Amino acid sequence: MKTILLAGGAGYIGSHTAVELISSGYDVVIADNYSNSCPEAVKRIEEITGKSVKAYEVDIKDKAKLETVFKENKLDAVIHFAGLKAVGESVAKPVLYYRNNIDTTLTLLECMQEYGVKNIIFSSSATVYGEENPVPYTEQMQRGTCTNPYGWTKVMMEQILEDAAKADKELSVVLLRYFNPIGAHESGKIGEDPQGIPNNLMPYVAQVAVGRREKLTIFGNDYDTPDGTCRRDYIHVVDLAKGHVKAIDYVLSHDGVEIFNLGTGTPYSVTEIVDTFEKVNDMKINHVYGDRRPGDLPESYANADKALNVLGWKTEKTLADMCRDTWNWQKNNPNGYNK
Ligand code: NAD
Ligand code: UD1
Repeated sequence: MKTILLAGGAGYIGSHTAVELISSGYDVVIADNYSNSCPEAVKRIEEITGKSVKAYEVDIKDKAKLETVFKENKLDAVIHFAGLKAVGESVAKPVLYYRNNIDTTLTLLECMQEYGVKNIIFSSSATVYGEENPVPYTEQMQRGTCTNPYGWTKVMMEQILEDAAKADKELSVVLLRYFNPIGAHESGKIGEDPQGIPNNLMPYVAQVAVGRREKLTIFGNDYDTPDGTCRRDYIHVVDLAKGHVKAIDYVLSHDGVEIFNLGTGTPYSVTEIVDTFEKVNDMKINHVYGDRRPGDLPESYANADKALNVLGWKTEKTLADMCRDTWNWQKNNPNGYNK
């Protein structure tokens, strides 16, 4: 059985990926400092899968501690989810973001070199396409200019991983560029649990639905889009997690660097998200239209052909599934993992 280290595996995407990997016959080891997650998520993974999961509380930047994980486990591959991801916070605290996100990557690569682990998948983002590239985004486009330090950390980490693979011909690197993951596992046991006021659309909608926030502000309705609100490529987190299983199969059997967009290829507007959430869950979401949010692009969506052609992966879930599963998680866990 192959063993996969999930760095940041207790988080939103990591926890769903853990479930899908275990269900596909992989063994997983989680390493997380719980800076944006909690050990309860690991318990929930165990409840869903019926398997016990080895988890280490470790800061990935702490090389001595991370080495223990590499010493105690025979790892076949690493998936690197461990990063800070709040765009606004990255503008206010750039040094924190560069330190955490770049250092975790370097420390993981050093341990991989020292312990002979040759396969890594990295959680990148559609944000690396920047402002210049036209939609839909394809993987061969140049990385663009980012509007914030979070985005730049992703650009830099992609470059670091590409350089590492150039120098070590046995290294296999897969860069997964996620679009907008939303939704939750259909069990309602794991989901997105943001700390404080959510920055992202769907967790905000869910917290309005559950009564934790009074109303949603839709940022701008004067964009050059069909209904004037921004359009994004929302992807169900379980589809995204299944993309990681395909990427693991790929990374274990190839060398070099490969980049894949993980998106549906179909954009939806903010208004369409609110309308679908209301319809599917039979409720009203109190909302108002406000100013544009600085840095937002009118449209962002993938060309998802490469993942289909090379990995044999495509999304299966609908926007209605995403809205239903988000609400199922939120209503079962009104305060997230804190019950
Ligand atoms: P998340 O915050 O839920 O998960 C990240 C996990 O990493 C958390 O459990 C956190 O505690 C952990 N972590 C952070 N720094 C660490 C460190 N130094 N040592 C150990 N653990 C650390 O976020 P997520 O939504 O699951 O995202 C996972 C990855 O995917 C991130 O790298 C994020 O930037 C990237 N990504 C996310 C999105 C999205 O919309 N959610 C989109 C594109 C890319
Ligand atoms: C944001 C980040 C992106 C990051 C991604 C995942 C910015 C500019 N981009 O993408 O770098 O990879 O999150 O973490 O922050 N919206 C509202 N009201 C809200 C919240 C959002 O109208 O309260 C709108 C936004 O204007 C946007 C859409 O909803 O049009 C989606 O927003 P969000 O979920 O934050 O994702 P992105 O902006 O696409």
